[in-house]
Amino acid sequence: MVNKISGTTTFMGLLGNPVDHSKSPIIHNTAFEALGLDHVYMAFKVEDGKLNDAVKGLKALGSKGGNITMPYKTKIIEYLDEISPEAKIIGSVNTIKIDEDGKVTGYNTDGKGFVKSLEEKDVEFKGKKIVIAGAGGASKAIAIQLAFDGAGEIVLFNRTLENAISIADNINKNIPTCKASARIMNEEDLVEEIEDSAVLVNCTSIGMKESIDQAIISSPSQLPSDIFVADIIYDPEQTKLLKIAQEAGCKHMNGLKMLIWQGAIAFKIWTDKDMPVDLITRDIFGE
Ligand code: ATR
Repeated sequence: MVNKISGTTTFMGLLGNPVDHSKSPIIHNTAFEALGLDHVYMAFKVEDGKLNDAVKGLKALGSKGGNITMPYKTKIIEYLDEISPEAKIIGSVNTIKIDEDGKVTGYNTDGKGFVKSLEEKDVEFKGKKIVIAGAGGASKAIAIQLAFDGAGEIVLFNRTLENAISIADNINKNIPTCKASARIMNEEDLVEEIEDSAVLVNCTSIGMKESIDQAIISSPSQLPSDIFVADIIYDPEQTKLLKIAQEAGCKHMNGLKMLIWQGAIAFKIWTDKDMPVDLITRDIFGE
């Protein structure tokens, strides 16, 4: 791919710190190559206090935009000319587009990526109740997007109750078609709430790294068999929660398709073209 870079090649950039483990460069560069697009995607580690300079640099060098990751998803809003409605409510931006005239628009494709991966599995969530465990950045983007896209009720469980309350209040204030509430993380209450829910989403880090042998639910008997179980973790591929869901006979998915779809939606914003999602899923992630 490097050999194909020419005097006409334009670039997209990831701004964050750290950026070295990001999957975005391989996803986008593979897609650019597959579609024969004259673009390249680079990851840039931006030191504290340098975000404004980095955005000015992208503009000055004619970049079409890129992605924003930790710790700048909120800070970037100061440097935008426009923000999409869902990113405004979420208060977080993971994608920017830079127009020919230098106008910078911010979007959030994390929640949209999750919704797209649910739709791909034919999960019906409009007007339905959804239970979300966790109230961090990913939970916020997913909860607000689900509310935006028609979820009827969202119950957020979190270890730190205030964080769940803040997301629920945000939804109730901005998206009155969805009723949101917050509860402190507790297995008994979680089991009670999922009884009449269509979807359970794990947005906590329980199930990865040091908590690899843990799950928000401890046995298959606690899951109604018609609930769809989503875990946003994709490494490991099958978390303990997803093993339990499988044993309970529930349809389920991990976070890989959310990762790919959030990239595909950003790709469409920059290029107006559809990312070859099946090719990316197969060639990069072997699924
Ligand atoms: P992300 O960007 O993936 O959303 P995050 O913002 O750090 O990551 O959020 C991590 C989520 O996992 C939070 O909801 C966190 O709960 P707190 O708000 O109480 O910190 C949750 N989490 C992490 N470790 C946990 C644990 N051991 N038990 C319960 N919840 C945990």
